[in-house]
Amino acid sequence: MSETVTLTVDGRPVTVPAGSTLREAAQAAGVHVPVLCWHPQVRTGSNCRVCVVEVAGNRTLVPSCSRQAEPGMEVRTDSERVRRARRVVLELLLSEADASQAPELLAYAAHYGADPGRFGEITARKRREPIRDNPFFVRDYARCILCRRCTEVCGVGVQHTFAIEIAGRGNRAAIATGGTGLLPDSPCVFCGNCVGACPTGALVPVAEFEARRDGIWPREPALRWSPATGFVAEEV
Ligand code: SF4
Ligand code: SF4
Ligand code: FES
Repeated sequence: MSETVTLTVDGRPVTVPAGSTLREAAQAAGVHVPVLCWHPQVRTGSNCRVCVVEVAGNRTLVPSCSRQAEPGMEVRTDSERVRRARRVVLELLLSEADASQAPELLAYAAHYGADPGRFGEITARKRREPIRDNPFFVRDYARCILCRRCTEVCGVGVQHTFAIEIAGRGNRAAIATGGTGLLPDSPCVFCGNCVGACPTGALVPVAEFEARRDGIWPREPALRWSPATGFVAEEV
């Protein structure tokens, strides 16, 4: 079996190690693909679908974070169909969660022209109150996009503690701890790995949560994103 795979990404030939994903092939071709549930320390669950790309001959768009590159594939990362699909994914996420502390999500949304109000306000999740049951971090699930990065790093990705999980389905799906629902009653060892992996501020250190609440958290630069540049910080 060949140790490399050659394919084209947006018309550019690229050769990558066998087993590479389409996201990695795009990266090798100098193309940034947006990702939300993908994280270097977790198995991808292909949960968010913001990374979808078009593969010639495939009827459906495929998640580039998990689909493996194959010889001769013709991949398009920025076609109108891809851009429309990403826009809808982002609009759904913005309708379900408070993204005000999710700079990467906001930068993707701006690039793809996502209308945060297109699906109306799905307020049940946005109305959730922050959970403060331990001295280390706050769980502010009104901001949660159910990307599962936290459950993955708590489980097989890094920590192997399995203190948190996704419970429920569809609109009722939520991060849960089992048992009493309180982290101190769970196997959690407060390692903080989930906090570091969360892309939206749904898991946040207590000090940061309180500083933001009190309006004394330092102003952070907004991000701009494009497939050509990746993330670029705006001037503050
Ligand atoms: S802080 Fe607790 S819930 Fe988070 S990764 Fe560590 S053990 Fe898991
Ligand atoms: S709490 Fe954060 S990391 Fe966990 S699923 Fe929600 S957004 Fe993703
Ligand atoms: S980043 Fe690929 S499905 Fe989420």
